[in-house]
Amino acid sequence: MIIAIDGPSGAGKSTLGKMLAKKLNLLYLDTGAMYRAVALAVDRAAVPHRDIDRIEYIAETAKIELIGEPDNLRVILNGDDVTAEIRTLEIAQSASIVSTISEVRRIMVDHQRAIGESAPNGCVLEGRDIGSVVFPKADIKFFLTAKPEARARRRFTEDKARGRISTYEQTLAEINERDERDVSREDSPLTIADDAVVIDTSELDLDEVFEQMVVVLQKVKPAARVI
Ligand code: DC
Repeated sequence: MIIAIDGPSGAGKSTLGKMLAKKLNLLYLDTGAMYRAVALAVDRAAVPHRDIDRIEYIAETAKIELIGEPDNLRVILNGDDVTAEIRTLEIAQSASIVSTISEVRRIMVDHQRAIGESAPNGCVLEGRDIGSVVFPKADIKFFLTAKPEARARRRFTEDKARGRISTYEQTLAEINERDERDVSREDSPLTIADDAVVIDTSELDLDEVFEQMVVVLQKVKPAARVI
């Protein structure tokens, strides 16, 4: 079974994707972490974002592994654990830039398909283009969204807990900037697949969203044992 979860940053995709993967005993694949790992490799090599050829080479040759259980997923770049390092704001913006390069996307999409197809029970993939490009025939497609203000509020709270000094207004501006780039890029922009189930999480807590997802899942796949 392939479950696609797409949507903008801060809509709850990761937390809900992990919850679903655990319940259904499926692999969980955070595709954004892969783009972040490429961005980190590019930054470590001090390659400017305009040097497309070198970025493509890095994407092709970087060894990116995602290992462990959904709650303790480790991201390994060329043998180095970069789980924490890819979560900075700088890498988020950098990932949003390198992910506009078509060849980088092609390489990542190939990896993602291979991982999803070889998962023994199936896979929950979360990102921006899972239902539209990576697995257009996914069994179920969710599109999670929320008002930018709600997403910024969540991100701001998370960042504060991680010790990052910022303001709500700054977080909102960053979210808007990243949204704009993700929806307006030419190759595989963030879009809602025709057959996706859209859930606006602005006014809902995680358990409420999860319940809605489970209801959808049982309509589409009655045999899925989720409760
Ligand atoms: O989900 P995230 O914030 O970790 O993603 C980081 C960036 O990677 C995001 O700004 C856009 C890009 N991305 C993408 O283009 N396609 C995906 N499937 C996942 C992420």
